Amino acid sequence: MLKLFKKNDRRIVEGPVIWQGGQSETTPEPEKEITHLFNIPVSPRAIPGEGVIITIQCAKHGDGATTVATNLAALLAKGNPEKVVLADLDGYGSVRSRLGLPAGEFLVNILDWEDVQGTRDMTRALITHSSGIVVVPGVIHFDHTVKVKPNLILKMLTILKNSFDVIILDCPPVGHGNNTWAAALVSDAVITVIKPDRTSLDMYIENTSFMNRLGCGDRLYTILNQAGFPGGIKSADLVENKELGITISAVLPYSATVAEENNRRRLVAQTKPRDIFSLALSGIVELLLDDPREEVTKNAG
Ligand SMILES: Nc1ncnc2c1ncn2[C@@H]1O[C@H](COP(=O)(O)OP(=O)(O)OP(=O)(O)O)[C@@H](O)[C@H]1O
Ligand SMILES: [Mg+2]
Repeated sequence: MLKLFKKNDRRIVEGPVIWQGGQSETTPEPEKEITHLFNIPVSPRAIPGEGVIITIQCAKHGDGATTVATNLAALLAKGNPEKVVLADLDGYGSVRSRLGLPAGEFLVNILDWEDVQGTRDMTRALITHSSGIVVVPGVIHFDHTVKVKPNLILKMLTILKNSFDVIILDCPPVGHGNNTWAAALVSDAVITVIKPDRTSLDMYIENTSFMNRLGCGDRLYTILNQAGFPGGIKSADLVENKELGITISAVLPYSATVAEENNRRRLVAQTKPRDIFSLALSGIVELLLDDPREEVTKNAG
């Protein structure tokens, strides 16, 4: 999908010069890409910097966005802790609770970005978690979620994109009474986590339609999480089902170990790397690191 880490080798390799007789000397101007509409950034290219921004959202609360985001960040940060940042746009609690960063002890939060002027003073709004992940924790009061405005999100992402190779955003369902649409607009990839149950599928259709209207349709990927959970729809019925119009890019299994480790505030990908969920997620990470974008099945949505 995306090459997440910058290669050190930045040499420009010159190709052979071939005289192409008979061809017009003027090459047609490539179509100009629209990056801003009425000054609103509407493309990943609208924000300078080399970092890759990945929004991870869910079709409905509880499908597993925070589980996927935190564990993905942990795996990517392995060996590259200074290159990966996890920002919590999921309001109060999600990442704090999962990583054991209670608001009483860790007051740093996303609203501190209001005072950050640039990369030099950004550390005041970051925490390095014991797992090695650099984190922007969510707000410390539930009521403060409304203060996470689009301009704050875009300012934070502009600074982070210049400092980190990968910026992972843990988001609630984009657009459901929150401003995470601003993050989706400038994300290189938007990953929607779904669960094989009826409500999730119904809300997925609504969610995908919104993402398409937002202009993110060509950057949408769907991960089926909790595949095989008791009582759920069989994964095979979803993965192969053309009528549903869902293109599933990756499948993560249901694993009781995930729930157990979440409840212990531990990241299963770190503590139980041989668990079925951890192994499947590691596979996705390899894909993210190695595969050129066009080789991964995109969500036709
Ligand atoms: N693959 C999995 N196997 C087993 N349990 C899982 C799995 N993924 C998530 N869970 C469990 O599902 C619940 C919801 O997960 P999580 O908090 O990650 O979802 P979410 O989409 O972030 O929810 P919210 O939108 O409310 O923040 C948690 O109890 C978590 O432990
Ligand atoms: Mg969450």
